[in-house]
Amino acid sequence: MNKIFVWTRKFSISTSQNAIKTVTVIGGGLMGSGIAQVTAQAGQNVTIVDLEPEILNKAQKSIQANLGRVAKKLYKDDPGKIEGFVKESLDRIKISTKVEDSVNADLMVEAMVEKLDIKQDLFNKLDKLAPEHTILATNTSSISVNAIGSGIKRKDKFGGLHFFNPVPVMRLLEVIKSDHISEDTYQAMMEWGKSVGKTCITCKDTPGFVVNRILAPYSAEALRMYERGDASAEDIDTAMRLGAGYPMGPLELADYTGLDLKKSILAVMLKETGNPVFEPIGVLDKLVKEGKYGRKTGEGIYKYNK
Ligand code: CAA
Ligand code: NAD
Repeated sequence: MNKIFVWTRKFSISTSQNAIKTVTVIGGGLMGSGIAQVTAQAGQNVTIVDLEPEILNKAQKSIQANLGRVAKKLYKDDPGKIEGFVKESLDRIKISTKVEDSVNADLMVEAMVEKLDIKQDLFNKLDKLAPEHTILATNTSSISVNAIGSGIKRKDKFGGLHFFNPVPVMRLLEVIKSDHISEDTYQAMMEWGKSVGKTCITCKDTPGFVVNRILAPYSAEALRMYERGDASAEDIDTAMRLGAGYPMGPLELADYTGLDLKKSILAVMLKETGNPVFEPIGVLDKLVKEGKYGRKTGEGIYKYNK
């Protein structure tokens, strides 16, 4: 197979032969914009769908800036190619506020808010509108993939594609096998994951899959230590960076991925597993209630310059 991999310290770019040539991403937030970026930089056409033009413009701006970071590293010995790489990648990205107009794709990846009913409604709609061959996938962090797809007919063409934040940098993709996924769909998902530069692992549809099943209790313990005042936020984060070798401490990471999402993940994990480590955490509930979701709102456990 004709494959070209270019690895740099923090990025993975790859072009491989795969059957998926056109992709639609629904949700142009933190994750959707990253998924669209890696798709476009791998040479595939991608449409991002979100509710408002304003959100889509913001996604385009952040993709342009992040493509610049990628290009600077890829072409550090040939800076003349930077502009072309960024422009060609951006030219492959379309935006739309209407999912009905964007269903002509080989793959549709959902990256909307972490709410079961909203995701179910979308997939029920896509199942009716999208061409027969289109594969449907969810980027959910914690919700059961089978539950999300419970109302669709094409269960053989449905599964989970769980990316990590920041998508252009994190090299992992969890491919989640739903109960009725066909071998062809599973293989197409694995191949597509490789084509966008990711190392793919496979996991059953089990709460939190691999990474969040392990990361969520760690994160919950850190939030409880902070709440009890056992140590300051800064000291908890420094301890895990310097004492355990994580690139970010658990509280910085919670702010980075979003405290609203953290709360949703813990609630789903509690319901699915009954493990008391996932019980509600006062300080998290309070911050979310106040709209302090972390970096994306300018304040969470820490304050950020917008
Ligand atoms: N796009 C492109 N490049 C980016 C980027 C982005 N969005 N964000 C960072 N980078 C690049 C930077 O350009 C920089 O490159 P150089 O090292 O070549 O200069 C590099 O990544 C490091 O960035 P920074 O210097 O800005 O900051 P850093 O060294 O602190 O690294 C980080 C930032 C990569 C995010 C690192 O802190 C990290 O790996 N943190 C942990 C992230 C993590 O655990 N993610 C998973 C969360 S769990 C999840 O996603 C699943 C879920 O369901 C919630
Ligand atoms: P986000 O809030 O940044 O973005 C979600 C986007 O979906 C918003 O822009 C919103 O306007 C849009 N949206 C909501 N309803 C929509 C609809 N009906 N049609 C089109 N767009 C709609 O959220 P995020 O952090 O990008 O998370 C998205 C998904 O990815 C969630 O399921 C989350 O669990 C998962 N995820 C998040 C992370 C992370 O670190 N943030 C990591 C892995 C997976």
